[in-house]
Amino acid sequence: MLRFACVLALVAIAVAEVEIVVHDCGSKDAVINSILVDQCVKEPCIVHKGQDYTVHVNFTMTRTVSEAHNVLHGGLGFLQVPFPLNPEMACNVNVPCPLEAGKTYLYTNTMTCPDFAPSLRVTARWEIKDENHHDIFCFATALQITN
Ligand SMILES: *[C@@H]1O[C@H](CO)[C@@H](O)[C@H](O)[C@H]1NC(C)=O
Repeated sequence: MLRFACVLALVAIAVAEVEIVVHDCGSKDAVINSILVDQCVKEPCIVHKGQDYTVHVNFTMTRTVSEAHNVLHGGLGFLQVPFPLNPEMACNVNVPCPLEAGKTYLYTNTMTCPDFAPSLRVTARWEIKDENHHDIFCFATALQITN
């Protein structure tokens, strides 16, 4: 019985990812098809400090762009706090470049929740910007940050 429970627990860890609802915040060059977050089992994702989280965004380009840049903000009420993503240049790290109109791509990024993050519920606003600083895509999701 105990062994069975352990096997179940392992399976639960292996498949711990959730498809989150797409809250589009101004995609200009693409349409978001789906967003998956690893290490999250339900929305809002509970994010532990020091732990890694991977986001997978499946999107289809409506326009061809040559560059892609990572921009992340944490929203606390009306305050938008920039959260630098490393590297800022997403080309050939998170997505191939150029991104061609009509094609579907997968954007993947792993980030570690910093120890200095406040233990609060925040709204993450994730933007991928093109060479003209327009959003290729943008999505927002609530996160519960905890120790
Ligand atoms: C993206 O989503 C589409 C539509 O759901 C699916 O057909 C395709 O296989 C996905 N592509 C990737 C790279 O996951």
